[in-house]
Amino acid sequence: MSRSVTALAPAKINLHLGVGGLRPDGFHTLATVYQAISVYDEVTVTSSSATTLDLVGMDVDVNDVPTDDRNLALRAVTLLARHGGLDPSDSHVAMDIRKRVPVAGGMAGGSADAAAALLACDELWGLHTPREELMELAARLGSDVPFCLLGGTAAGTGRGEVVSPVEDNGSYWWVVAMPGGGLSTPEVYQAHDRLQAGVTTADAAIPETLLDALRAGDTARLAGLLVNDLQAAAVGLRPELGDLLARGRALGALGAMVSGSGPTCLFLAGDEDEAATLRARLGDAGLPVHVASGPAPGARIATGPVTGRP
Ligand code: C5P
Repeated sequence: MSRSVTALAPAKINLHLGVGGLRPDGFHTLATVYQAISVYDEVTVTSSSATTLDLVGMDVDVNDVPTDDRNLALRAVTLLARHGGLDPSDSHVAMDIRKRVPVAGGMAGGSADAAAALLACDELWGLHTPREELMELAARLGSDVPFCLLGGTAAGTGRGEVVSPVEDNGSYWWVVAMPGGGLSTPEVYQAHDRLQAGVTTADAAIPETLLDALRAGDTARLAGLLVNDLQAAAVGLRPELGDLLARGRALGALGAMVSGSGPTCLFLAGDEDEAATLRARLGDAGLPVHVASGPAPGARIATGPVTGRP
């Protein structure tokens, strides 16, 4: 019988997304603080005679996910096989992805799938690739993939791929609203560049005040320190996001922000009960809205029944 391995990888949010200058390679320098939250994509790989990909959306629209070699999780399979010195004909997998992280939503869903695919294939093929090498492969796949492996709360520098854990003694409750349709990350960065035209870009830096609030695990202080330099660009492209953020604040969210390049919007609640109340109120408008907690662990092999949400 063919062997299968399932891995889970979390969605990421950025508590602080500081965007610096445009680099010669087309990426922007970042100073970001990532947090993994308890919304997981689930990737199962099974040894097979041909590589295939099946996607199931769990409350998310998967129609726009590429299923050819533009797919980051399939690229992860090829990259790991090559790195492990496997014969290409021995390294086919049938891949099944159950997606809960919104597609093109600003929560690194594609990166989560790639991180989970790396771990699942490493286990399936018994490669025992050292952690540092997996992190290097992850960085080659995309800026957010190393963080999806690491999880927790972490600082990200470089183009976001240089990650290191940050002391975080809190436990936070987020309400995650997923407006339909995605936003293209490169287009949001380009819109940001247009808004910044003529402005001298200071080097992006992670504020000490934010690191202090996380160390103290102080939700109310964190709420006042949430920053996303891409938010104005995302709201410029999708003005209704501005209304959604305002509605969440009016309904009692302690803090509200666009997640990464959007269009997912995040609302910080005081505790689990407040998150449930806010979710019910925001959900009245017919949007998919979920409650998630953070920080959550990074990508891991699934050993028991998988629920994917708290
Ligand atoms: O690394 P990733 O493939 O996720 O990046 C997608 C796109 O987002 C890049 O091609 C680039 O246009 C933009 N990007 C950027 N600066 C970053 C990360 C991403 O401009 N630090």
